[in-house]
Amino acid sequence: MALFTTIQILLVLLLASTVAFLWRRHVSRLSLPPGPKGSFLTGVKDQLPPSAPWKKYATWAEHFRTNILYFRLYNKDFVVLNDHTAVHDLLNSRAGIYSDRPKAWMFFELCAREKAVFNISATNPRHSQYRRLLNTRLNSQAMKDMYEVLEDESEKMVKGMASSPVDYEKYIRRNSVAVIMKVAYGYEVASENDHFINVAEECAKISGWAMAPGRWLVDYYPILRFLPSWLPFTGFQRQAEEWKKRLASLSDEPHQWVKSQMRSEEYRESFTSKLLNPEGGGAVSEAQEDLIKWSAGGLYVGATDTTISAMISFMLLMALHPEAQNKAQAEIDRVVGSHPRLPEVTELHHLHYLHAMMKEVLRYAPVANIALPHRVIRDDEYKGYRIPKDATVIANVWYASHLFTYSTALSVF
Ligand code: HEM
Repeated sequence: MALFTTIQILLVLLLASTVAFLWRRHVSRLSLPPGPKGSFLTGVKDQLPPSAPWKKYATWAEHFRTNILYFRLYNKDFVVLNDHTAVHDLLNSRAGIYSDRPKAWMFFELCAREKAVFNISATNPRHSQYRRLLNTRLNSQAMKDMYEVLEDESEKMVKGMASSPVDYEKYIRRNSVAVIMKVAYGYEVASENDHFINVAEECAKISGWAMAPGRWLVDYYPILRFLPSWLPFTGFQRQAEEWKKRLASLSDEPHQWVKSQMRSEEYRESFTSKLLNPEGGGAVSEAQEDLIKWSAGGLYVGATDTTISAMISFMLLMALHPEAQNKAQAEIDRVVGSHPRLPEVTELHHLHYLHAMMKEVLRYAPVANIALPHRVIRDDEYKGYRIPKDATVIANVWYASHLFTYSTALSVF
């Protein structure tokens, strides 16, 4: 019996490795998706514009008549997904192999941001630990605790805008930072010039510079990171050192602020304080505290620039489309009744037109035109093409949301 089982196991292993071998051979013989050919050394570097690369990807997608585009930038493979079907088929349905992040050496390694929620590799155990912690705050039940904060801060924003309309952007910025600072750290933003509003802005700016695609050669030739900073042409090392210190101190500040408040015992409950002081007591280890700090940082980074951008687009589109604004206002008036007041969060499900309009703002002016890059961890086949292992996979959200070749209606708000 034991011998029979061993033979069976061997047969299954043989069959599995034969299937795997044949699959790998099949995939390796497939051609890459269509796309522009670049030069041997730099790939398509010289064809990419300094900004708005999604527009160039769209032009290429139309030129090559493809919803999956391939190109090389220096020595790295890139695959751009240009419609919803391709994004859904790969990033959702095959998330098991498409959820990793490509390593941006300048930002992750030299600026020491590898542990950040948005940068962590899906193969690192911290990835699922972060998700567990973040889920305590981002699930639909926990969202209800945010209603009061959302309503309070909306009122402050609307009053501010009414008193000084030209400063609308300041009030939007304050609103986003204030909501998430209260939720993540229990911190009350005092004014439009609050220190933490400037901290959020500075972190976002530095991160944007350090992650700019194609800007840092070390992202493509990581061996350059070993060059000592006193050599000529190693300015990136000195720049990274400066940004590393600045980012560490900026992102540490709110966490340290919560700890100092907790010591004084006069603090507002928050994501951070609740996790640092778990129900039933018990000490939090240094490693757990580090996870909490980075998770709260993920909430802060995820919630600020995104919602600020969406609200600014909303203001612009309302100014351009007063007819849509009037319809939404009429709907709000019907729901809130004759006394002028702001709608409450629980009333939002009665505001169908407004809800559809918000979705249209996000479609027409996507917050993240190319979302966040993913990395595929093994060779894959899609629509008869080979998606090479380690390729950076980009969802062209902007193009997928417009697709003007197929429907001109989609380029109209
Ligand atoms: C208009 C608003 C927002 C947009 C457009 C947006 C967009 C995104 C995108 C594109 C990603 C990356 C998904 C991927 O890996 O492909 C992401 C991840 C994330 N967002 Fe948002 N976001 C918004 C608001 C928020 C808010 C308000 C929060 C926090 C309260 C938040 C927290 C996060 C977190 C923590 C992640 C990382 C999830 C993970 O990788 O496990 N986001 N978001």
